[in-house]
Amino acid sequence: MAASMGRWLLFLTLLSFLWDASGGLGWGYLSEEEVLDTENPFVQLLSGVVWLIRNGSIYINESQATECDETQETGSFSKFVNVVSARTAVGHDRKGQLVLFHVDGQTEQRGINLWEMAECLLKQDVVNAINLDGGGSATFVLNGTLASYPSDHCQDNNMWRCPRSVSTVVCVHKPRCQPPDCSGHGTCVEGHCQCTGHFWRGAACDELDCGPSNCSQHGLCTETGCRCEAGWTGSNCSEACSNGSFGEDCAKKCQCQNGAACDPVRGTCTCPPGFTGDSCVQECPLGWHGPGCQRPCECEHQCPCDPQTGNCNLTQAPNLSSILSQVKQCLQPSQVSLQTREFSLLTGTACLALTLALVFLLLISIVANVSLLLGSRAERSRHLDGSYVYHPLQEMNGELSAAEKEQTGETCNPFKD
Ligand SMILES: *[C@@H]1O[C@H](CO)[C@@H](O)[C@H](O)[C@H]1NC(C)=O
Ligand SMILES: *[C@@H]1O[C@H](CO)[C@@H](O)[C@H](O)[C@H]1NC(C)=O
Ligand SMILES: *[C@@H]1O[C@H](CO)[C@@H](O)[C@H](O)[C@H]1NC(C)=O
Ligand SMILES: *[C@@H]1O[C@H](CO)[C@@H](O)[C@H](O)[C@H]1NC(C)=O
Ligand SMILES: *[C@@H]1O[C@H](CO)[C@@H](O)[C@H](O)[C@H]1NC(C)=O
Ligand SMILES: *[C@@H]1O[C@H](CO)[C@@H](O)[C@H](O)[C@H]1NC(C)=O
Ligand SMILES: *[C@@H]1O[C@H](CO)[C@@H](O)[C@H](O)[C@H]1NC(C)=O
Ligand SMILES: *[C@@H]1O[C@H](CO)[C@@H](O)[C@H](O)[C@H]1NC(C)=O
Repeated sequence: MAASMGRWLLFLTLLSFLWDASGGLGWGYLSEEEVLDTENPFVQLLSGVVWLIRNGSIYINESQATECDETQETGSFSKFVNVVSARTAVGHDRKGQLVLFHVDGQTEQRGINLWEMAECLLKQDVVNAINLDGGGSATFVLNGTLASYPSDHCQDNNMWRCPRSVSTVVCVHKPRCQPPDCSGHGTCVEGHCQCTGHFWRGAACDELDCGPSNCSQHGLCTETGCRCEAGWTGSNCSEACSNGSFGEDCAKKCQCQNGAACDPVRGTCTCPPGFTGDSCVQECPLGWHGPGCQRPCECEHQCPCDPQTGNCNLTQAPNLSSILSQVKQCLQPSQVSLQTREFSLLTGTACLALTLALVFLLLISIVANVSLLLGSRAERSRHLDGSYVYHPLQEMNGELSAAEKEQTGETCNPFKD
């Protein structure tokens, strides 16, 4: 049996696999114009020979009278209808569910005829059904596995039966997703991707969506949620780092002291008035005060002021007062450099004064030395001029030794005699 084309057709008007008799599925004899209609084209079209059941009634006699009997090659149309063989059919039941029908057999030996098939289908509440190919062409494949007993002998070994190679099949499968794997981020359920995780979106589960705030412009949406830029945190990156933290994931600890504000991105400190340095640990250099230590003190006698308030009354700052008592003088604020605050006590006037004092001392020392030198020279030259008294050394010694002899001779010298 090798029927492959009939004059009447099963047609499906919708791409969707909703096997719905009212909307997506239709049955009927079609003209060539209807088949080629471009305005409302068929998406899928399936044809057979013999409309078995039409609107709940067996329609075989009518089909025989209506259809062309040259499309099947089994013999007369009557033989085609009445011979036992393997049979296949497709139809739908009263609920609109698709029915696929297959019976194993071999032409003229085993199987059923079309009357028996129609009766059987009618008992299954089938409302419309058409007969498809049969005999050696009838093959039932379930999920990729041959699930029927084909009747053709195998070509290479006559002992076995093999399915025939056919040009067309009726294939039914669950609706597929596009792409079938839902981009690896979802599961396909009835043709629709159900995306995994909380952030994959779209029909193909290929778009990341972190909600309407879209990571608040401070982060990147990933499949695990917002990945915030440095300095930002929270599920949608809307919160700046706080509690003395900064940087990526707010994982770094701010070093700011004395209540300084910490930049949430870089951790740089904004010092309160009176403090300076990277971590705002240092007080303003003497003579300066205020935010960033930018303001010079304006105190009498150019005395330093409170580094925070600029107040010249320093009795409430004991440490500063003690420094001042050691310094014992007020410094010129305008010459106190911010950068050389370590040495600020030696800068400016103090330094100048010290230098002047040293120069003065040096001058005095030079003058003293010069005058001493000149003095000694004058004395020496005076002696050399001849106006000195000559004392013969011999004589003096002689006199002295004579006197000594007289004094000690008789009493003390045991060697005299
Ligand atoms: C189908 O049969 C029902 C009764 O079973 C009838 O009411 C209906 O008009 C029929 N439809 C067609 C298209 O023949
Ligand atoms: C089909 O036609 C045959 C004769 O051609 C007749 O005997 C039979 O009763 C008819 N069957 C139906 C269901 O009309
Ligand atoms: C079809 O086979 C696949 C494995 O090849 C299996 O996962 C799936 O469950 C099968 N489907 C049916 C309907 O048997
Ligand atoms: C979120 O913002 C990024 C740019 O920062 C943009 O590429 C993306 O399309 C946005 N996503 C949504 C869902 O608006
Ligand atoms: C951002 O996340 C917080 C919770 O972490 C939520 O209360 C807020 O509504 C979110 N903002 C937007 C615009 O989604
Ligand atoms: C800051 O610390 C307090 C208490 O230690 C805590 O309740 C709060 O959640 C913290 N805030 C952030 C943004 O970490
Ligand atoms: C300076 O401070 C002391 C002690 O706090 C206070 O008694 C004094 O009145 C203040 N002087 C001025 C000029 O504010
Ligand atoms: C004064 O200096 C000492 C150390 O020299 C320090 O421990 C103390 O806290 C300082 N007091 C004030 C009020 O700054």
